[in-house]
Amino acid sequence: MRNILITGGAGFIGSHLVRLMVNKYPQYKIVNLDLLTYAGNLENLRDVEKCPNYRFIKGDICDYELVASLIKNHNIDSVIHLAAESHVDRSIVDPFSFARTNVMGTLTLLQAAKNIWKERDEKFAGNLFYHVSTDEVYGSLEAEGTFFTEDTKYDPHSPYSASKASSDHFVRAYHDTYGLPVVISNCSNNYGSYQFPEKLIPLFINNIVNNKPLPVYGKGENVRDWLYVQDHASAIDLIFHKGHNGETYNIGGFNEWKNIDLIKVIIKTVDKLLGREAGSSEKLITYVTDRAGHDLRYAIDSSKLHNELGWSPSLQFEEGIEKTVKWYLENKDWMDRVTSGDYLKYYREMYGHDTY
Ligand code: NAD
Ligand code: TYD
Repeated sequence: MRNILITGGAGFIGSHLVRLMVNKYPQYKIVNLDLLTYAGNLENLRDVEKCPNYRFIKGDICDYELVASLIKNHNIDSVIHLAAESHVDRSIVDPFSFARTNVMGTLTLLQAAKNIWKERDEKFAGNLFYHVSTDEVYGSLEAEGTFFTEDTKYDPHSPYSASKASSDHFVRAYHDTYGLPVVISNCSNNYGSYQFPEKLIPLFINNIVNNKPLPVYGKGENVRDWLYVQDHASAIDLIFHKGHNGETYNIGGFNEWKNIDLIKVIIKTVDKLLGREAGSSEKLITYVTDRAGHDLRYAIDSSKLHNELGWSPSLQFEEGIEKTVKWYLENKDWMDRVTSGDYLKYYREMYGHDTY
């Protein structure tokens, strides 16, 4: 029996994690705290919203009183923290909201969990604060064949990665200073269903469908290491249950792609599924000014997670990308609603009022 507070559960990765935990552990209570920003959408969780072991709370992780009352009233013993501002390009335009949510929000959760759990038991027996983070805290790799390990020095370059690095440091500080039981995982780029179409893969699928330009930053030579989102969720489940207190685990699928090569795979897959001539959408590729401070290469070494806890990704990339493209093509209504920002109509129809 566990009572788990998952933050950011209405977002991309959070919704996959909530679905997994609610279905796999009917004996657990899962409380999802999400502010429903532009990136959070209850439609992502429609299939589990009536499950008796699931509760949704709309609210801000920066609200100490709210967070503390949730931990108290739901007898929360563990937190899995995903809520964040997550898009690098937005962080360049508006760094303050990244500091607020990612740094102050994490600190608020840590402080509330520490205070309330300590009142219950000086030694935090049965408690865990699991912080979900990114490989972007490690900075950028130059050479081929080098990887980020758990010992790689932090070297963030974007306001997003700087805010995530800061939150990771606060989590470790709460472990070292107050003895709070914590684990951190740093994952590579995720892809799959329900990802907001500001990120490369859903944005490009949507633009290909609508014959719109595909804005490739710089020369398209940056490299990212892509993991299917459900494999990230399964890794979080495993680390939550079997990970060791105070440890960090890197999560990745040893699946590096140069952006331009990945984009050609997406084009090929969309063209095939739409019955267009193979590669015909390559004409949409448009090279644009590079992102400021654009990290050249990310690549994760996840051997610690594999060797110590036995985790491996379940899907080959070709299979994952085809499933992903199919999902976006079959869920055009979802795409239209999130790109127009008009969830209100949908919420009204579903819940009888404008917001949840
Ligand atoms: P997302 O942007 O899709 O979702 C973020 C969620 O957090 C949304 O539902 C949003 O409503 C919620 N949220 C934002 N501010 C909030 C606040 N103040 N209070 C409560 N809820 C708030 O993000 P994602 O891609 O699902 O990423 C989830 C986590 O995983 C983040 O911490 C991110 O740094 C990390 N991560 C993401 C990736 C990736 O490829 N997407 C890779 C590694 C790690
Ligand atoms: P993104 O999905 O934003 O993830 P991240 O920056 O966190 O890795 O971008 C993935 C890669 O694709 C990154 O190198 C930037 C690039 N990119 C483009 O070339 N064009 C785009 O329109 C976007 C959104 C990203």
